[in-house]
Amino acid sequence: MAEQATTNPNKALWEKGDFTRIAATMRDSGVALVDDLDVTAGLRVLDLGCGDGTTALPAARLGATVLGVDIAPNLVAAGNERAAAAGLDNLRFQEGDAADLSDLADDSFDLVVSIFGAMFAPRPMSVAAEMVRVTRPGGRIVMGNWIPGDPTLVAQLLRISGSYSSPPPEGFVSPVTWGVENDVRERFAAAGIAPERISCTRQIWTFAHPGSPTELLAIFRDYYGPTMNAYAAAAAEGRGDALHAELEELFASQNTATDGSTSIPATYLRVAVSA
Ligand SMILES: C[S@@+](CC[C@H](N)C(=O)[O-])C[C@H]1O[C@@H](n2cnc3c(N)ncnc32)[C@H](O)[C@@H]1O
Repeated sequence: MAEQATTNPNKALWEKGDFTRIAATMRDSGVALVDDLDVTAGLRVLDLGCGDGTTALPAARLGATVLGVDIAPNLVAAGNERAAAAGLDNLRFQEGDAADLSDLADDSFDLVVSIFGAMFAPRPMSVAAEMVRVTRPGGRIVMGNWIPGDPTLVAQLLRISGSYSSPPPEGFVSPVTWGVENDVRERFAAAGIAPERISCTRQIWTFAHPGSPTELLAIFRDYYGPTMNAYAAAAAEGRGDALHAELEELFASQNTATDGSTSIPATYLRVAVSA
């Protein structure tokens, strides 16, 4: 019997393909980011939009008690498998929506991390309110968000992909608005956070792949929901080759490795909030 299609487009986008294949190119950056967060044994950490645990696993390895929440059940399953394989019984993953964390109690985390995760949930005001609600007073929220118009890989990939896809439905708020400092401040202000408790800095995230940029692009084409959708939309309009050529040029031009492998640094907005 055919599997019933999900009716939630946000969920469908991330269930599509296999984000673990992209996450495999992000492991070192995940460890480096967590090393910078003063994670201590017993710290209660929520990783929101956690995927298969790029940041959740390193945090658990430092002794934190970590819950990963993600909207895509396949990524939750992959995360739980990675936790079991690593013997981390202080780490578990469950399904949930960043805009509605009603399963989670108020003030239940010391640190909420969301690296390119919650930014993809619709209803950003609810996302900010939920992150603040589940963080204890005096706790921290750290987000990593791609920046619209930035010249580096992911912002350009999303821009180019968007230009080959049908326009989003009316009222759709672009995920990359989470990379605009004023929007971030407005959302956390509405959730009760004073301006001096919010800081935004530009940081670098590196995608590393042992093969060529063309191979890395193939991974995005075959496994990354937003890029898969763009290829499908472009093919339907006979523009598949044009999209591919544009992305080949993007990946090649962003590569800084000179030994046949791929290393692509991408700029993101790191948001730090003291709750
Ligand atoms: C670009 S991936 C990043 C995953 C992970 N943070 C990492 O760094 O590997 C975006 C993640 O956000 C998740 N996501 C998207 N919308 C979400 C929502 N509304 N609630 C929770 N997770 C969501 C996706 O399923 C996906 O795992």
